Amino acid sequence: MPVPDRKIVERVEELRDQINYHNYRYYVLDDPEISDAQYDRLFDELVALEKAYPELISEDSPTQRVGAAPLEAFETVRHSLPMLSLNKVLSETEFLDFHRRVRELTGAKEEEIMYTVEPKFDGLAVELVYVNGVFAQGSTRGDGIVGEDVTLNLRTVKSIPLRLLGKAAFPLIEVRGEIIMNKEDFEGLNRVREEAGEPIFANPRNAAAGSVRQLDPKITSTRPLGMYAYGIGRIEGKVLTNHWDTLVFLRKIGFKTSQYAALCHSVDQVKAHYEKILGLRNELPYEIDGIVIKVNEFALQEKMGELSRSPRWAVAWKFPAQEEYTRVKDIVVSVGRTGALTPVAILEPIRVGGVEVSRASLHNEDEVKKKDVRIGDTVVVRRAGDVIPEVVKVIVSNRRGDERTFSMPDRCPVCGSKAIRPEGEAIRRCTGIACPAQIKENLAHFVSKGAMDIDGLGPKLLEQMVDKGLIRDQADLYFLKKEDLMKMDRMGDKLAENILQAIDRSRRPSLSSLIYALGIRNVGQHLARVLARRFGSIDNLAKQGIDDLTLVDEIGPIVAESIHGFFRNPVNVKILEKLKRGGVVFPVEETCPRKETALSGRTFVLTGTLEAMTREEARRIIEAMGGRVSSSVSTKTDFVVVGRDPGSKYQRARNLGVRTLEEAEFRKMIGR
Ligand code: IVH
Repeated sequence: MPVPDRKIVERVEELRDQINYHNYRYYVLDDPEISDAQYDRLFDELVALEKAYPELISEDSPTQRVGAAPLEAFETVRHSLPMLSLNKVLSETEFLDFHRRVRELTGAKEEEIMYTVEPKFDGLAVELVYVNGVFAQGSTRGDGIVGEDVTLNLRTVKSIPLRLLGKAAFPLIEVRGEIIMNKEDFEGLNRVREEAGEPIFANPRNAAAGSVRQLDPKITSTRPLGMYAYGIGRIEGKVLTNHWDTLVFLRKIGFKTSQYAALCHSVDQVKAHYEKILGLRNELPYEIDGIVIKVNEFALQEKMGELSRSPRWAVAWKFPAQEEYTRVKDIVVSVGRTGALTPVAILEPIRVGGVEVSRASLHNEDEVKKKDVRIGDTVVVRRAGDVIPEVVKVIVSNRRGDERTFSMPDRCPVCGSKAIRPEGEAIRRCTGIACPAQIKENLAHFVSKGAMDIDGLGPKLLEQMVDKGLIRDQADLYFLKKEDLMKMDRMGDKLAENILQAIDRSRRPSLSSLIYALGIRNVGQHLARVLARRFGSIDNLAKQGIDDLTLVDEIGPIVAESIHGFFRNPVNVKILEKLKRGGVVFPVEETCPRKETALSGRTFVLTGTLEAMTREEARRIIEAMGGRVSSSVSTKTDFVVVGRDPGSKYQRARNLGVRTLEEAEFRKMIGR
């Protein structure tokens, strides 16, 4: 192993300092100084040096955020100072009561009392311990006394510094704050989970908490988490005298603190700041549920002291609820851009958190069942900023008996195609590739690289072509004329000709590109190649049964069902025909010979009733695996499959010495 010289050691340190600084600009200040590409160059250089000189790798290197192995369970951590909670007030009067107590308990004059006011983040409270400036341990608040050791997970949160900024390395500092997930990221995460058939998170707080309290740090590292610091536990090597300076200090050593914190000199300023933050609530990228008001001077805080679980010197002034009651007038189904059918509750319009709400997502059919939402029900709806309003729960005691249950249609309400829900998935999807709800997305896929690869047809142009009624499906592209294209905004002669040429070039695709272009659900580029190699043509692929498809390596029942369903959808069949009419050549390519199986070339006879499948199904499987099924037993028969109550064929097999297979043995042979 090469020994690093001094120059290398210095360069590594320099890179780490620079990367830490730029992380801070990006994740904490939201104000990057260099481009992503420049950042990547620094990062790559550091990675390369650490690879060449592994002994230089240190725990606090910015390259070391991910990679830890999953844990069996979290260790517990006792907080050196309890992590307190906050008393709540819900109105101005209650806030003024709090202020009166502050005056009484501190004995301070009105003008001597200052408050720091911050948003109350709705996330998960954590404590981060830094020893000599290096992140040493992170824990959840837990019950305030004992929390869980989530160090490895917190290391993956980009706005948590692994090493404090600046050269001052304090022997010890405990930083407290909230882990949050932005509303937009939360919705994105739920979309992905929904697509994957995984349970969705109820709100950004649950998503943040679930991501931190997750045993595999690799999973946490994929979750878009952030942290806002709002306080300090123990600290050595630095004296702070008030909360405002504490926030400034936290920011200086590398933490994100709220940009909406304010130092208020009077109760009126506190009230004004409450109104201001309440007004901002829905625009903020993350959820907040109130403001936190803290007596600013530590000396005054100490005079007031603490109750067992909460300090007397701080209070949370909560915002009005984002939840309201209303009635479900109807449940309709909307079709998204990816063909997902989503049940939507149509509500008696109601103002929630200052905005009128008349629709709420019910996510999917299982959610409707789980919450048992019926048409006519009184429900609680919740709206949280930009988050799509949702039905939280039904007030069952309000039922009158004439409520109607909802069931998900098995056809797409937009185009009438069959909508299928693969086993194990939560989402039902429309299978029509030219469904008006999905056509823009599907067209963009159709023309993309790896698919038909038509240059010049960007998503904007495609969208315009659909909106102007020029194309309604993929095949319409092949009937376009120059004068059609000239009707588009910002279209010139040359561009139109180039596009037509590109369309023309795409008329001779490879089989795998064509299969991929069709946008069959679950068939990506790789599977498209596998299918092309195995079946050789669209016509041959189209006529395969589900069993035949599942026999192909890498194709499970879900994919098989989606391929099979695709070619049995009359709308799709029409488009395939129309593509041919438009001059697209459907290639016929050489296939790879089928793999030899234990059934290849063997003759089977079936007798009796099979438990797991019908005889017809068994026949198809045998044939698909290269065997033959005959109706009578002879010396040429290789196997007789014997079900329940077998007939005379069983006796005949025994007489002729033909090998018999019980159902279980047969199933083993065919691999199911
Ligand atoms: S200060 C003694 N500041 O609220 C002070 N807490 O009910 C206690 N929280 O567990 C914490 N935003 O999770 C403080 N700006 C903020 C906060 C905040 C959210 C949470 C925190 C704590 C809970 C207390």
